[in-house]
Amino acid sequence: MPIVEEARAKVNLALHVIGLRPDGYHDLDMLVAFADIGDSVTLAASDTDGFVIDGPMAGGLSADADNLVLRALRGFRELTGRTEPLSIRLTKRLPVASGIGGGSADAAATLRGLCRLYALSANDPALAELALSLGADVPMCLAGRPARVAGIGERIAPTRGQLSFGLLLVNPGVGVSTPAVFKALARRDNPPLPSLPAFDDVERLSAFLTDATRNDLEAPARDISPVIGDVLEALARQPETKLARMSGSGATCFGLFGDMAAAARAGERLMADHPGWWIEPATAAF
Ligand code: C5P
Repeated sequence: MPIVEEARAKVNLALHVIGLRPDGYHDLDMLVAFADIGDSVTLAASDTDGFVIDGPMAGGLSADADNLVLRALRGFRELTGRTEPLSIRLTKRLPVASGIGGGSADAAATLRGLCRLYALSANDPALAELALSLGADVPMCLAGRPARVAGIGERIAPTRGQLSFGLLLVNPGVGVSTPAVFKALARRDNPPLPSLPAFDDVERLSAFLTDATRNDLEAPARDISPVIGDVLEALARQPETKLARMSGSGATCFGLFGDMAAAARAGERLMADHPGWWIEPATAAF
């Protein structure tokens, strides 16, 4: 029986850049949630190794050895010695290089799927180390739960995840280079997140996010790709939107809504105005 693992879109509700490390990576303080949409990774025992990519966003990447799914597989095989041939299918629904996890979520889903296939624990510290070596966002995608995340992405403190809300994910179809965005930062020593209050409703969550948090990568990403500003303004103009912000290093932005129905209503209007943008309503929790 094939194993299917969801690679859900990661959304940075907040992303504070609070320092630069000697190795050139940035110290971050983030709030992360996962949408109920994403890619999926299907694993099945086979006679020979095989890897195919399908889905509406398959055109954006190639199935070569650099693909994060195959890098995750190689790392897992080195770690565990389980080298049985596998056929792997990546169904790509999220835009590539767009600030919502994408390749990191695919790598994490691959690792989770391999653990399920061989009945191994996905909580092994060696697996977390492998995940971090694949990318700073891979450990949080492996955990797959809403969290406050610090360091470069390896310190993960899950939140309760009891408050659900609607999201509208909007990508204008431009790829943004993550290193270029970090490089264009005006400051690297911004204040960290304050301590988190209890969130009983979406109003309180969105008020806290608006008043006390930021995405520090938004300004440099907008400088590089001004269309990100158009997306944020279009989201903020919708009457149902409680917060409009960029995720990760962009270019995907999100609106926060009371529920998925409100997000979908705003999405209909945006789709009519911007037929070329990728626009997806979703539900998430924090
Ligand atoms: O770890 P990952 O490959 O996803 O990171 C991509 C690039 O983003 C890094 O090469 C680095 O330039 C930048 N980055 C950073 N600080 C982080 C995460 C990523 O400077 N915490």
